[in-house]
Amino acid sequence: MTEITKADLALLAFAREAQEKAYAPYSDFRVGAAIFAGGEIYQGCNVENAAYGSTICAERGAAMAAVLAGNTFFDAIAVVGDSQDPTVPCGCCRQFLAEFNPEMRVVMGGAEDAVRASSLEDLLPDAFVRGFLDQDSGAK
Ligand code: THU
Repeated sequence: MTEITKADLALLAFAREAQEKAYAPYSDFRVGAAIFAGGEIYQGCNVENAAYGSTICAERGAAMAAVLAGNTFFDAIAVVGDSQDPTVPCGCCRQFLAEFNPEMRVVMGGAEDAVRASSLEDLLPDAFVRGFLDQDSGAK
């Protein structure tokens, strides 16, 4: 179990702030995220849609904000959801985040006080990353 630092808790507080902005009228499951990149914080919340599949997760919302600001290397992300246990990023978000540092720290919180931290690599081992595309032999 990775020890929780003050920096983790500070990032989690930004994720909790973002969670308050969640637009989740269908699931009523509110998620907030905060990314630490380039010395700045980028927040996101889940935004649902009447066409359910068009929903965007909080983590990807935060990632979009970081990239828009010119930061493509993420040191850490905090995620917080309404679950009793700390909310983990979904598989799609794990893959999306791996693009911007497969080893980033992931801090997770839920509706209660428990906090969990991990590395993205532990949550998504053997990720498909850019290096595989660089190995394209061209023999098709
Ligand atoms: N959700 C996220 O925002 N992030 C995740 O990693 C898991 C799921 C959102 C999507 C949807 O709005 C709600 O949580 C229920 O799945």
